Order: sequence, then C-alpha cells, then structure tokens
Amino acid sequence: MRPALLDLVGTMTDDDLPAYLYDLPGLREHVRAIRSALPERVELLYAAKANSDPRILRALAGHVDGFEVASGGELSHVRSLVPGAPIAFGGPGKTETELTCALNSGVERLHIESEHELRLLTTVLGDGLAEILLRVNPPVGLGEVALAMGGRPGPFGMDPAQLDHCLEVIASDPRVRLHGLHFHLASGLRARAQLALVDKILTWAQDWAHGRGVDLAEVNVGGGMGVDYSAPHKVFDWPAFGAGLRPLLARHPHLTLRVEPGRSITAYCGWYVTQVLDIKFSRGQAFAVLRGGTHHLRTPAAKQHDQPFEVIPDDEWLPSWNRPEARDEPVTLVGQLCTPKDVLARAVMVDRLRVGDRVAFAMAGAYAWNISHHDFLMHPHPTFHHVEDVEVSVPGRHAHQTS
Ligand SMILES: Cc1ncc(COP(=O)(O)O)c(C=O)c1O
Repeated sequence: MRPALLDLVGTMTDDDLPAYLYDLPGLREHVRAIRSALPERVELLYAAKANSDPRILRALAGHVDGFEVASGGELSHVRSLVPGAPIAFGGPGKTETELTCALNSGVERLHIESEHELRLLTTVLGDGLAEILLRVNPPVGLGEVALAMGGRPGPFGMDPAQLDHCLEVIASDPRVRLHGLHFHLASGLRARAQLALVDKILTWAQDWAHGRGVDLAEVNVGGGMGVDYSAPHKVFDWPAFGAGLRPLLARHPHLTLRVEPGRSITAYCGWYVTQVLDIKFSRGQAFAVLRGGTHHLRTPAAKQHDQPFEVIPDDEWLPSWNRPEARDEPVTLVGQLCTPKDVLARAVMVDRLRVGDRVAFAMAGAYAWNISHHDFLMHPHPTFHHVEDVEVSVPGRHAHQTS
C-alpha cells in the first residue's frame, strides 16, 4: 500500500472501518500508461460496469476515448458525470425505454445484440439516425479462459447467420447505419492470448464483410484483459499488447479498433480496509473474523479466489485478557455474514495476525462494492475515501485529501 494511503488508514477510527480507499493519482498514472502503450488508431473505452464510482469516472475522463455502458442506469449516470464523453451502449435485453433514452441522449454507438433488438430500435427511431455495431458471437476457439462470453452457445451477441437477417433490416432502413462489429468473448486473457484472439476476430470480421460487400469502419474487440489476483504486481502487459496490435492494424488499414476493458483499468486503484474482530481455532484451523465481508467485497466469492491483502498491525490493546492471535500459520479470513461462503481469503500464511490489527485487501477497485449484496444482514456500509494526494518527496511526509 502506498505511504499516502497508509497514512490515511492511520487517521481512521475503528468506526470508519470497513473503508474503501480509491487511489486516484495511481489510477490516472495507470490509465495514462495504458493509453500510451496503445497505437493511436486504437480507441480506449472504459467499461463502466467495472466500477461506476463518480470520482473514478471523472478521473478517467480525458484519459480514455469514451465509456461503454450496459444499461439505461449506467447511461444516465455516465452522461451526467462526464457530459460530452462519447458513449457506446451495449449489453443484452435493452428495453424500448432504454433505446429511446440512448437515442435522446445522443449515444455515439449502439451495440445491437439481436435481430429483434434491431427491429425494436427501428420502432423508436422516429426521425433520428443510429450508428450501430452488431455484436457477434463468432465461431472462434477460445481455449482456457476465466470467463467465456462467446465462441460457444450463449445469450450474448448473435450467431453469424443472424447477421444476414440484420443486414436485410439495415438495407431497408436508411436511418440505421452499420458502423462495424462488436465482440466481447472472454475475460482473463494475458496479452499474448488476447492478441491471438484479436487477430482471429479481425480476420473473421474482414472475411465476413468482404463476403457481403460491407464496409466496416470499426471493430470493437471488447474488454477482458487479464487481472491476476494471485500476483498483484503482474499487470496485463499493455506495451506487448500495443506492440502486437501494430502489425494487425497494418493489415486492416481502414479500420478503427476499439477496446473496452473495465477490470484491468480500475482493479488496482481500490483497497478495502477492515479490522480483525476475532480469531478462532476450529479443529486446529485458524479463522480471522473481520468487520464487513463479502457483502462489501464480493469479488473473491464471485471469482473463487483469495483476495490479496496486507496486514497493518495495530499495537494498541486495552482489554485485560490476552489478545487472540494466529502466528506463522495459515489463516482463513472471513466476514461477519452467517454463511460459509463469506470467505475473503482461504488458508493464507500469515506471520502474525491479532484481534485489532487492520487488514487492507488490494485489487478492490473493480467488480467489488458495486457487485456486492450490501444489505444482507444489515451491517453498516463501508466509508469511502478518494485519495487525491500530491506525493511529497521527503520520506514520511504526504499530503492527502479525502472525501
Ligand atoms: C460487452 C462487455 N464489454 C466489456 C466488458 C468489460 O470486461 P472486463 O472488465 O473483463 O475488461 C464486459 C464485461 O462483462 C462486457 O460484457
């Protein structure tokens, strides 16, 4: 944890915990590095579903080329926070109301998920025009991936045969302009695998377009850039990805390529900080019960991983009895919920963990608070802090602001 964040944790009372800390300078630095690793012809959208916290969205504006939203709610949220930013609206099951809102609010692109959705769009278009991408589920092999959303039967996008029906609808309606194709097939890929997938997608898209005399201006290859929760410092290799895209782009000189990652942009900027309430031993195994739990940070339950963490020792101990502790042994870190699924990290070795110590879970900036079941058991919600600090070069002196 960066010193500025650690300083902030030091000022917090127990009642401030659990707390989400968002490192906004760290986020900006990260997204700047991503942007500069990508060729100019690649447009970088942020998938707001990963974390739509207002200050995170504002911190990203100016560093990304736009935002991808997947509901009417996300659309109006992003529109109001970053007015003027280009927005692509995707996601399955769009309602008439959502399509109408999208048109009224001037979204730049609509990602159409099916022939039915396209026909629905034509019924609400009125005198308007729509720039669309058709979302495809192409027959490309994915191999081992963390989460597959295409390349196999599924509710996302459409089978290639449906595209031809969509072309007929588009040909008969001058208000609809086919700008390109959209793909989001998998999550959790490393740079080399992601490049191989982009290569397959572009080849498939160009073959499809040539076969039908369609002029593709844009291909959006989605997000899914890998985030390795077991190795917080091993981030997706954006420089290798960017370098590998250049020869692919050279083969498709008239195409704009879009990517729309979420997790790999914001995962690293978030911390969930909490405190050990109890340490127990059951049949010889150590359990640390923490304030909060997976109703605040569902990520480890959703992805079935151990959320990486740091222990922040707290040496103050006032009660008259011995402080329960675990030493040099594996500990399972659980929350306060009455379910065995409330596990944040399982049997992880610790040097020492005591009641009262604080625990800072890293990589809590994406699919974390916003995907959690906040009100289960009615524990208090965490506090939220956006660190907007200017690092001072003198060791130990850091200024920060929080909200
Ligand atoms: C269409 C689409 N685009 C982008 C994303 C972002 O994916 P990730 O957060 O894995 O980068 C998702 C995630 O589900 C998605 O469904």
